[in-house]
This record gives sequence, structure tokens and C-alpha cells, in this order.
Amino acid sequence: MVSLKGKTVFITGVTSGIGKASALAFAEAGANLILCARREDLLSKLAEEIKQKFDVKIHAVKLDVRKKNDVNKMVASLPAEFIKIDILLNNAGLGRGLNKFYEDNPDGWEETIDTNVKGLLYVTYAVLPQMVERQEGHIINIGSIAGHEAYPKGAVYCASKHAVNAITKSLRMDLIDKNIRVSTIDPGLVETGFSMVRFYGDEEKAKNTYKGLTPLIAEDIADAVLFVATRKPHVNIAQMVVFPTAQASSTLVHRNG
Ligand SMILES: NC(=O)c1ccc[n+]([C@@H]2O[C@H](COP(=O)([O-])OP(=O)(O)OC[C@H]3O[C@@H](n4cnc5c(N)ncnc54)[C@H](OP(=O)(O)O)[C@@H]3O)[C@@H](O)[C@H]2O)c1
Repeated sequence: MVSLKGKTVFITGVTSGIGKASALAFAEAGANLILCARREDLLSKLAEEIKQKFDVKIHAVKLDVRKKNDVNKMVASLPAEFIKIDILLNNAGLGRGLNKFYEDNPDGWEETIDTNVKGLLYVTYAVLPQMVERQEGHIINIGSIAGHEAYPKGAVYCASKHAVNAITKSLRMDLIDKNIRVSTIDPGLVETGFSMVRFYGDEEKAKNTYKGLTPLIAEDIADAVLFVATRKPHVNIAQMVVFPTAQASSTLVHRNG
């Protein structure tokens, strides 16, 4: 296991779920953090919590990854001590609605593709040149099992995560001679804010997603992220699929009751 002490880790989407759990896990491992998300109050709260608990440096910035110019500005104006980024965790993402395609709302498609695909591209494109120049670095993307298999009523979310899968693979090829690792961690059902966002705040629908099984929790995926990030430099975990035990595919979930 390689130490993360003093490394700089940039995480997108840290105000909830997997991003938040990963920020706490990296801080516990001694990494300095660049954190972003759109909800400024939650972002400040997390930065404060980390500062109280761990002796690491934090640079927290309100950022919508869909806004290319803001992403570029944010990366270009990093304080000197945060300029050298060792690990980028592309986590910010969402799904909107779970409807048959012909009954779905196109507004949700824009949001999903702009965040999961274009946002990930913008952030990666802004961060990569310095990694290429130094010939070191690690990009870790949070994909999904939806990037491996399509499921009904998920055309656009599945497409967005298939895109993440393809981007991860191509990027790994493009960076083959640059000593930069590119990994993807692809979870099944994780109980986070994801379903509340997907169902536009409908608590009952959100809860039903995880009904009758023990889902993964955000910390389980943070654990996987830390594992991937702490392998020896010559080891690149290309892809890690993580299910709860009661899930075997996008559509096969065993529920009690
Ligand atoms: N939960 C699951 O079952 C599951 C399964 C497979 C994959 N995933 C993937 O895991 C990742 C994290 O999701 P989660 O489950 O942890 O959901 P979550 O609890 O809803 O967290 C999503 C995070 O992304 C941020 N975010 C969303 N849009 C953003 C934007 N435009 N700019 C910046 N930040 C943005 C949100 O912060 P703000 O709203 O404050 O911006 C929030 O912090 C996503 O990529 C998701 O697709 C989740």
C-alpha cells in the first residue's frame, strides 16, 4: 500500500454520498484536498468537518462541472500549494427520472449528459496537461454497472455511464506512454442521495430503490477508491465492479419480502 500523506486529491461532487465519503477517507489517509460541488453550505460544512478532524489542507470551491469556463478558471486559479494534482476523482454525477424513454422528460437528459459525460470531460481536460507534463498522476472515474449493461427506463443514464466507460478506456490508451493511471469504479446499488435526486425528492420512491436488500453505502465505495489509489505505482486497477451481495446485475436483485 502506497501512502497518500501529502498527496493532493481533487474530488468532484463532495456534498453527499460517495464523494463525501471519499473526501473523508482521503483526509484520514493524510491527503490534501481540492473539493467541489454546487451546494456551497454543504461544501463549507464538510471542509470544516475535515479541518476539525484531520491535519490536512483543504481548498473548497463552489463549482458546477457542467460549466466549462468555470471549470477552467477554477483549475487555472488554484493556490500554489494545490497546483500539483496527484489524483483526480471524477465522482459528480446523477440520473434524472426512471421512465420509459418515450415518456421521459428531455430536460433530465441534458442534465444527466452534461454532468456525467461533459462535466467529467471538462474537469479531466483541465487537470490532465500538468499530469502529462510531469508524467505522473491518477484519474479515477466513478462509473456504474449502468455503464456495462443497459436496463429498462434508464436509456439516458445508462448511455451516460457507457460513455464514462468508453472515455476511461480510450484515455488509458492515450496515456499509455505517460505513466498516468486511469481507473473506473463501477458500483451497483449504493444508498446515497442519488435516488432522491433521480426521483426529484420523492422520498418513498427513493426508499423503494433499496427496499428488501442491504445496499452498499457510500463508505463501501470510498473504500474501493482508496484501495485503487494506494496500489504501487506500476499497478493500475483498470476497472472495479462493486455490487451489494444481493445484486448480480443491473436487473437481478434479490429482495426479501
Ligand atoms: N448511488 C448509486 O446507486 C450509484 C451507483 C452507481 C454509480 N453511482 C455514481 O456515483 C456518483 C456519486 O453519486 P452518489 O450516489 O454519491 O449520489 P449523491 O449522494 O446524489 O451525490 C452526488 C454528488 O454529485 C454532486 N453533483 C451533481 N451534479 C453536479 C454538478 N453539476 N457539479 C458539481 N457537482 C455535482 C452533488 O453535489 P451538488 O448537488 O452540491 O452539486 C453531490 O455531491 C455519480 O457519478 C453516480 O452516477 C451511484
